[in-house]
Amino acid sequence: ACFARGYLPREVRFVGLARTPLDDAAFRVRLADGLKCEEIAADACSLQVGEFLRRCSYCRCEYDSAADWVAVEGRLLALEGGARANRVVYLAVPPFIFGPAARVMAQTGFLSRGDSLTEPWTRLVVEKPFGRDRASYDELQRILGAVCAEEQTFRIDHYLGKEVVQNLLVLRFANTIFEPLWCRAHVSHVHISLSETQGVAGRAGYFDQYGIIRDVMQNHLMQILSLLAMEPPAHLDAEAIRDAKVAVLQKIQPLTLDDLVVGQYGSVASAADSRGYLQEGGVPPDSRTPTYAAAVLRVDTLRWQGVPFLLTAGKGLCHNRTEVRMHFRDEATLFDNAIADLPCGTETNELIIGVQPDEKLALRIVSKTPGVGMKLGTTELDLCFREKYPGQRIADAYENLLLDVVRGDRSLFIRSDELEAAWDIYTPVLQQLESLQIQPWPYAAGSCGPAALDALGMRHGIPDAMVVGQG
Ligand code: BG6
Repeated sequence: ACFARGYLPREVRFVGLARTPLDDAAFRVRLADGLKCEEIAADACSLQVGEFLRRCSYCRCEYDSAADWVAVEGRLLALEGGARANRVVYLAVPPFIFGPAARVMAQTGFLSRGDSLTEPWTRLVVEKPFGRDRASYDELQRILGAVCAEEQTFRIDHYLGKEVVQNLLVLRFANTIFEPLWCRAHVSHVHISLSETQGVAGRAGYFDQYGIIRDVMQNHLMQILSLLAMEPPAHLDAEAIRDAKVAVLQKIQPLTLDDLVVGQYGSVASAADSRGYLQEGGVPPDSRTPTYAAAVLRVDTLRWQGVPFLLTAGKGLCHNRTEVRMHFRDEATLFDNAIADLPCGTETNELIIGVQPDEKLALRIVSKTPGVGMKLGTTELDLCFREKYPGQRIADAYENLLLDVVRGDRSLFIRSDELEAAWDIYTPVLQQLESLQIQPWPYAAGSCGPAALDALGMRHGIPDAMVVGQG
């Protein structure tokens, strides 16, 4: 889509690197299968697709072979017309290949820094997993730091490229009405949830080594939390925004076992086609890897003291949804008696930030139900992005992020100290889960997660944790 819209430099070239032997033609056939034109007329589309594929080539490469990287360099130079151009290297390789690949790339000079205005730059994009804990992250960073300067490094968390996540800064800092409410005086708790119906079929090899906390909570949900909870950044540049995120992450106490519930989806006897996690191909029969986690974090700042942040994430759940619910404190109002008629769990004002599948912002308020008499009900002041902006395409997270790599804007990429702080919050509890061999609570695939969430919620004054989970 970025190519078709002309967002990329005119002379851009794409080169696929992998171990599989392929020629350019076979590579293009593979790519063509996945290309679709949205909102572009069919004739223009086939021209664009043809033009895009013409710019794609393939080079076979063993990641740890210096000779292969030298050959890749030669191939790139030929495509660049003999003079090195600006390059983006996207390294999507399994963690065990990362170190050897990075070392050989460094030895062959592939990741030249390009730090003068006239010298072309090379930027390296890396994807999670960024280690399994603080120590393995530090080791990864040692290898990465040896081959690549921090300014060249773009660590992707694709949640930062999502429309509504990008909008969090705007919501908070372009609307002065929210700032006075955005604190412990008015907020009773915040619930950030990521629920998926799918299990781990096809990815068990990776997932069983990592589990849900490392897969989505330590990264995607913590990125949302830091944008929600941080203080206003000094400026809107990448460093100031990331400084503010690190500052708040460093104020979060490490998670303890008492504040954590872990679960694992099981098969449901009544549903013939339902598979439990342990029945997924590649999962060891005695695996204790959590596919669900609920954690309560405390943000120890003046703004948030005493406000629990509940994070829930799981696979094999009852719906696909990622959202934030900020619950405001109940204060006595003139209408207490009438409000008592409202269904349980809906009495508070709530700000709902829908990340997906429906991008939305909604403020739940209490309102008079039309008709005779003073009956109250809740309703939402609702901004649904797709309804409000019909015809306006919402870009995929990766499109936004990869364009930012080309532009050199690092605001939406994770700085090393953010990862260090996020790992410090989760490492002790992850180690305890493993050393104490804690058995996750079972929950039925397709349900809303283990009932133990209720007890966790109650301990932290969140009476409707489970209700929200189902909502
Ligand atoms: C990935 C996780 O980072 O994020 C997956 O590895 C998860 O397990 C995915 O399903 C969720 O991303 P999205 O964009 O589909 O919400």
